[in-house]
Amino acid sequence: MHVGLRKGFSNFSSNSNMMNSWNQKNLLQQTYSSNHVHEVLIIPHDDIYAGGWSVAFNIGEASIGLDYEVRKATEKEYEVALDFLALAFSKSREYFIEYESLPWFRYNREKWIGLLGGKIISNVDLFTREIFIGKSPILVGDIGHVATHPSYRNLGYGSELIKNVLREMDRKCYNISFLFGGDNVYHFYDKMGWVAFPEKIVNVEIRRETELTNPNLEMEKLEGGKDFNDVIELYNKYDRQITGSTVRTHEYWLRYRDWMIKEPNFILLWREKGDPVACSLCEGGSTGLRILWICYDRKNDQILSSILKGIINYAIKNKYRYINVGFLPLDHPILKILKMMPVETVCRNNNNMMVRLINVKSLFEKILPELEERLNRSNLKGLKRSITIECEIGNVTITIYDNEVKVEGRREDAVHIPLDKKSLVKLILGHTTFEKIDQYIEISRKIGLTDKDIKLMSALFPKQYPIHWNYGHY
Ligand SMILES: CC(C)(COP(=O)(O)OP(=O)(O)OC[C@H]1O[C@@H](n2cnc3c(N)ncnc32)[C@H](O)[C@@H]1OP(=O)(O)O)[C@@H](O)C(=O)NCCC(=O)NCCS
Repeated sequence: MHVGLRKGFSNFSSNSNMMNSWNQKNLLQQTYSSNHVHEVLIIPHDDIYAGGWSVAFNIGEASIGLDYEVRKATEKEYEVALDFLALAFSKSREYFIEYESLPWFRYNREKWIGLLGGKIISNVDLFTREIFIGKSPILVGDIGHVATHPSYRNLGYGSELIKNVLREMDRKCYNISFLFGGDNVYHFYDKMGWVAFPEKIVNVEIRRETELTNPNLEMEKLEGGKDFNDVIELYNKYDRQITGSTVRTHEYWLRYRDWMIKEPNFILLWREKGDPVACSLCEGGSTGLRILWICYDRKNDQILSSILKGIINYAIKNKYRYINVGFLPLDHPILKILKMMPVETVCRNNNNMMVRLINVKSLFEKILPELEERLNRSNLKGLKRSITIECEIGNVTITIYDNEVKVEGRREDAVHIPLDKKSLVKLILGHTTFEKIDQYIEISRKIGLTDKDIKLMSALFPKQYPIHWNYGHY
């Protein structure tokens, strides 16, 4: 037996056409005697339940059914979930087995499932990662393989599962969540609080046969992990302070090293007069080359330009037809650099990436050292000010006093700045500055922000581009 849900409905169902559970009988009686029953709905069962039925009573407010159980999957259930995912995504079981073999996929992952009558009808995989916001690490919960059994869609089961995972993330002080959806699931995630984060997919078409002149850097393909310590050192030097880049611990390198250098992946190490200055992780397909990660001194656009030229030359030599440069913020500097090169690029916008802030207070507590450093770098030292950021996801007050930054909850005496969740995400991730957010003019007019307030917000949230954003998570 199971009890399900449909918007505003309380559902009852049975395989045996018998109401033999005390709870369900009780709920049935209560529902029948309720003044709020507007409508009754019969939902026939599917293959999982081999027939049977559900009855849904519209009682005006949504409450998930009695035996829709949401919990983390046990080891054994990971196997069962493979069959479930194959069915839910209309793909082969092997497709999902292949995923399971990837070290980044299995790493720090929890599977959450929704069960009806003990059978899996919904699935979410939660991947726990850490990324840097400047020098401060924050906790990320990426979600993937979100699915409900085709016969149980639009009944609220998927939302209920996600809500449970969100509650868990909030409780455990996760700070941000990324996912890759698509047009068909945009509304589903939008309602759950994720915001679309438009990116550009950039391909460089390789039509030429002559290599570009690139006198600056020497390139070496790392074979069998040779010089891998140089890669770790470059990461420590250039990526550890970059917003959006993955926190890579010793354990991380041990786990990922082989994956990074195993075909079709490979690492190119870039040297200047013999010294390593940059590295790039690529994936070679049958016709195209994909850049997964570039680690370099981001203050030096010249070096990025040289690496790109070097990779284009590598692609020409190895007869690749195109290079996928990745998913980039719409105004990423790499786009300008490519425009200046004698190559053809094809760009298209993509809205698949969605981001959601989770526990905002804990987020600001974690980035406090970075905020302090940003304040120290500004000419606003000595300023005394409290700003409460009001956002539907959570409120937080940043107080600047005696060159120190304090983070606390909402404060009545602070300057209140209302930010929608998209603007706050963008400021945190360094994709925009305060003066460029959509609501800026409206906010400054309404609140009468002073010059100092605006300067303070700009100092606390400077623009800082990540590169190869999504792959950076691995
Ligand atoms: C996306 C997916 C997981 C949603 O699962 P679901 O169980 O159908 O989700 P819900 O029933 O909670 O919500 C689905 C829709 O029903 C609506 N809904 C929610 N509760 C409802 C209820 N009680 N009654 C009726 N509709 C409801 C939701 O608002 C949502 O509407 P939307 O399309 O406007 O967003 C499911 O459609 C699926 O498995 N799709 C195929 C796999 C896939 O594409 N996964 C996403 C990968 S990123």
